[in-house]
Amino acid sequence: MPALDDLLTCLRFASVSTDSKHNDDTRACAQWLVAKLQGMGLTTQLHETPGHPVIVAKNKHVAGRRTVLLYGHYDVQPVEPLSEWLSPPFEPTIRDGRIYCRGATDNKGQLIAHVSGLAETLAQHNDLPVNLTILFEGEEEIGSPNLKPFLEAHRQELACDVVAISDTGMVAEGVGTFTYGLRGISCMEVKVHGPSIDLHSGIFGGAVANPATMAARLVSTLHDAEGRVQIDGFYDGVQPLQEWERKSWADLGDGAAETLALTGVPALFGESGYTERECRWARPTAEVNGIGGGYQGEGSKTVIPREAFFKLSFRLVPDQNAERILDLAEAHLRAHAPRTVRLEIKRGHTGSAYLMNPNSALGQAAQRALKTTFGGKVALIREGGSIPIVQAFKDVLSADTLLLGLALPDCQAHAPNENFPIANLEAGIRLNQALLRELGA
Ligand code: BES
Ligand code: MN
Repeated sequence: MPALDDLLTCLRFASVSTDSKHNDDTRACAQWLVAKLQGMGLTTQLHETPGHPVIVAKNKHVAGRRTVLLYGHYDVQPVEPLSEWLSPPFEPTIRDGRIYCRGATDNKGQLIAHVSGLAETLAQHNDLPVNLTILFEGEEEIGSPNLKPFLEAHRQELACDVVAISDTGMVAEGVGTFTYGLRGISCMEVKVHGPSIDLHSGIFGGAVANPATMAARLVSTLHDAEGRVQIDGFYDGVQPLQEWERKSWADLGDGAAETLALTGVPALFGESGYTERECRWARPTAEVNGIGGGYQGEGSKTVIPREAFFKLSFRLVPDQNAERILDLAEAHLRAHAPRTVRLEIKRGHTGSAYLMNPNSALGQAAQRALKTTFGGKVALIREGGSIPIVQAFKDVLSADTLLLGLALPDCQAHAPNENFPIANLEAGIRLNQALLRELGA
């Protein structure tokens, strides 16, 4: 199957965008995609950016046809912890009908499904039902820092009626799922500086504040016991859930039981008054993604570390402003930091939340394509994950984004043993074709 061969080839590139050791692999992946798209007869360009390249490809645009921008990302997350992988992370391995590899689901499997659907249609008809503009980037997993300026600089070239993306989930195997909302994100790194050098904790302990203790103390000011964020102004403007969505998500079955089983936690957690799905899909959060400082080696070492750090990300919902959230977080941390340490705060990437009306004309077209592909009822959901460029498509190109995901709940995206069923590659090919037919009609 040529689609499977293409996916396996694409997966072998270790295109880890965050790690400069993999810059050549990331570029090689982009170049392979360019050659692939060119070979399909699309006019394809690799655009340099200050980071990883952007790929733009088009068929011949015909006046009067709808223009669809197909977005995807060829970069992947790091593979650590390596010891947890059952097969090497960049050697795609098929077990029980699933392809195991970093990027298998997020996003190469879903991206290659689209590319393969297009390749088939072009081979059969030498034409597509729409004007198509492909936009693939290599920096989604690091917050798309260079793509928003790229959109602004290439507005005309990227002008479109609608954006389509497969980079979200399915509620279950075989259930067509339309995602009409995503959470946004704001990231920040905090260093807690104490003494100018590591100190003997016996000689100085008691008179000098320990940065690791102060980091832990600061982190503990972020939440109350059920995870409500304690930063002043954090919930300002947060849109309440809509009644219809609460009902329709409740009809999807027992989300709490599923999440308990998938995650292996002893018990769930969350704001009272919200179901587990509501907490994940439509409520904002603050998360500690990393925390450290001091001695990490074997045995004990009696030291007061000179510094400690923690890394935070906030998941956002409409209408929180991602930059303002960083302002509020910084003000909170500075207000709570004791005078005995000095904070160094580095702001990271941001991306807005996204929400559309799933029953707009274009949303209905997407739902029909899902129904044609999967049969049965289409699930309407929001997702807790972020695709930072999606709201920028709305702001810069005035286009809504149709999110038609193929990721299964147990795909292990970002984790060891990420996987994607060959059946979803096949379904994705049909979904691409059904979607372009619907959007072309
Ligand atoms: N495909 C995901 C986003 C996603 C995950 C949507 C789960 C729906 C459900 C995307 O590749 C991703 O992981 N995004 C990052 C963005 C961040 C690094 C800026 C995320 O959400 O952490
Ligand atoms: Mn991802």
